Amino acid sequence: CMVRHYKFNVVMKKATRMCSSKPIVSVNGRSPGPTIYAREGDTVLVKVVNHVKYNVSIHWHGIRQFRTGWSDGPAYVTQCPIQPGQQYVYNFTITGQRGTLWWHAHILWLRATVHGALVILPKRGVPYPFPTPHKEVVVVLGEWWKSDVEAVINEALKSGLAPNVSDAHTINGHPGPLSSCPSQAGFRLPVNTSKTYMLRIVNAALNEELFFKIAGHKLTVVEVDAVYTKPFKTDTILIAPGQTTNALLTTDLRSGKYMVAASPFMDAPIAVDNVTATAILHYSGTLASSATILTAPPPRNATQIAANFTKSLRSLNSRKYPARVPLKIDRSLLFTVGLGVNPCSTCVNGSRVVADINNVTFVMPTISLLQAHFFNISGVFTDDFPGNPSIKYNYTGTQPANFQTTTGTRLYRLAYNSTVQLVLQDTGMITPENHPLHLHGFNFFEVGRGLGNFNPKKDPKKFNLVDPVERNTIGVPSGGWTAIRFRADNPGVWFMHCHLEVHTTWGLKMAFVVDNGKGPDESLLPPPSDLPKC
Ligand code: C2O
Repeated sequence: CMVRHYKFNVVMKKATRMCSSKPIVSVNGRSPGPTIYAREGDTVLVKVVNHVKYNVSIHWHGIRQFRTGWSDGPAYVTQCPIQPGQQYVYNFTITGQRGTLWWHAHILWLRATVHGALVILPKRGVPYPFPTPHKEVVVVLGEWWKSDVEAVINEALKSGLAPNVSDAHTINGHPGPLSSCPSQAGFRLPVNTSKTYMLRIVNAALNEELFFKIAGHKLTVVEVDAVYTKPFKTDTILIAPGQTTNALLTTDLRSGKYMVAASPFMDAPIAVDNVTATAILHYSGTLASSATILTAPPPRNATQIAANFTKSLRSLNSRKYPARVPLKIDRSLLFTVGLGVNPCSTCVNGSRVVADINNVTFVMPTISLLQAHFFNISGVFTDDFPGNPSIKYNYTGTQPANFQTTTGTRLYRLAYNSTVQLVLQDTGMITPENHPLHLHGFNFFEVGRGLGNFNPKKDPKKFNLVDPVERNTIGVPSGGWTAIRFRADNPGVWFMHCHLEVHTTWGLKMAFVVDNGKGPDESLLPPPSDLPKC
């Protein structure tokens, strides 16, 4: 195993997209930023130096961070932010994981442009559980605003209304040839005929789940969130913000240019950016001037395509990569997730849109939760987060938008190594909506999902406890529920939130505090000496 050193200079950089330019926050002057490459078992050291006027922190999305919560990255959860002019070395070892993950800023809305892929290769000499691809290609999907992204969210917070949607989706940073500015050609994927390519797809968009497809070609999904899946063929991939998907692409045509498309999935009546990002798959020997074969992206409300994709996902569950689904459950929780409306005298409508879990709109503290936990600093958080909804309502019907939430910095305490079943239930307080929930510090198994209200008597009988998909970010279906299971084998404080950034900002977040175990290797390590101060 090796130690891999990276240096991330967070700098402003002028960027041009859609025929207009603006300064963006970037890592090393690029967006998407550099791809981190490592092997399973390696230690990764990333020195992050903040040269911009904003506070910064970086999260290594999906990295388990066993006992090293200090390197997880969410600001005010596991660290104070890196202030302008300061630096911090993230230091973590990759244990028991291989595949595609990613990194992103975890403060303000900086992740709009501060993100990149994190590729973990298997240990040397260990093959993939599928034929070795001819080439691997990182495909980062994103969103682009013509205006300053921090201004977009600040404006929304002031008014209490939803923020403006983005002006374009992007593939590896570019809206592509079908955008309103066709002179910017966008991403081009050159291929040879009769080969297999592995696409490492990351959804780094702030607020939109995406469909991904390629004209004339099928894709074979082999991994999600850095866990191998049973391979399955599909026309269309569904990928939520936070999620990653590895898909094999066989170039079984002779020649030609084919459109690669990323378009939004949103089955709630909510505004989305409707511009499909495009790129070109280009067979070698095809004239640049030849016409591109187009593909029609699914409609934005293609719920059935989304559901079919999701239900096809299964853990590989081979002898070498078994699915270790917890069968006996120590803690059974039910969290409602949704939006509400709270009074606000300075807002446009006299109210503001908020979001909540179990009716709690989470309030960020001013020092990090992990420090408060480790050093026993009182008054920062309470550990009385409700394990079940405290009020009764029909979860799925659209209700009059008068649901007020409570506010607080409340955590849920889990005993080290206990097993947890958590049902995530969408609520329709304003409208049912799909929420991609991300849990830090753990992978979990999705043992069940359904529409309507979760039925605690009937639904668990249908759970898949054999080969459920294992991941770190899960789409809670619009007007439905999903049940996940995990083992709390990682001591520390672990954030859980909707990966639609606007919902996180509105308060759809909470954290688990996991106690230390008794063994010598079961405790959170002490913080590094350069841990940023608040
Ligand atoms: Cu990818 Cu808490 O985030």
